[in-house]
Amino acid sequence: MARLIALLLLTALPAAAELPDKKVERLWKAKCSACHGADGRGQTPTGKKLKLPDFTRPAWQAKTTDELIRNRVMNGVLETRDGVEKEMPAFKDELQPEHLDAIIALIRKLAVAP
Ligand code: HEC
Repeated sequence: MARLIALLLLTALPAAAELPDKKVERLWKAKCSACHGADGRGQTPTGKKLKLPDFTRPAWQAKTTDELIRNRVMNGVLETRDGVEKEMPAFKDELQPEHLDAIIALIRKLAVAP
């Protein structure tokens, strides 16, 4: 009986941690868009100053692995390149793994057709 109840409880839970699109979009707008732009092109004042990559470009999408995105977002960035100090905060204390997966999916959706 207890087993049956446990089974019923389990199946009643929402399907594995997928965030609704609206929530991910809010997360992106709140934490990322100030630098990367709502559209991911990096054309904000900060984005231009830091010479941020354009996430909508097919070439950027192709060369950028999910692993790299994960790593950068979790650990942040701090390096001098292209004559600017590129600094991005680490988000590992703020984002749950399912948030990160959802953000990666959102970044992939920013891609424009070649
Ligand atoms: C304070 C500005 C700032 C904020 C806020 C910010 N970033 Fe960044 N981000 C940067 C900088 C600077 C880099 C390094 C860019 C480079 O390598 O040219 C970067 C790099 C990245 C990269 C790797 C790009 C590449 O080609 O290597 C990803 C992916 C990324 N950011 C995603 C995010 C996400 C997702 C968020 C929100 C959770 C976020 N960033 C918030 C400034 C920011």
